[in-house]
Amino acid sequence: MNIPEKHVFVCIANRPPVTGASCGAGGSREVIDRLQFALLEHGGPLVEKVRVSGCTCLGPCEQGINMVVYPDNVWYRKVTPDDVAEIVQSHLAAGVPVERLRFTGDV
Ligand code: FES
Repeated sequence: MNIPEKHVFVCIANRPPVTGASCGAGGSREVIDRLQFALLEHGGPLVEKVRVSGCTCLGPCEQGINMVVYPDNVWYRKVTPDDVAEIVQSHLAAGVPVERLRFTGDV
């Protein structure tokens, strides 16, 4: 196993409904599936350079589905499965974060 250059953490937490929104309940497993499929589909070294993991709550639950890319420290909010291809092509493959989805902590 190689050490990846980038590691994508997608929140898969399921909080009790009475506490508000959570990424797991919002469908984050599908985001992970699409990420892994898109990396495979992209082919080349990207599959070896990027790792995708589910994680527990990242904090801004009401902004979910949330994910973060390290070591870039780029946070994404309100990610849907349909956004995944753009994140892979623009950020993970070309190094340009998808600005419209960025979470900067200002909400
Ligand atoms: S449940 Fe995903 S950030 Fe809290």
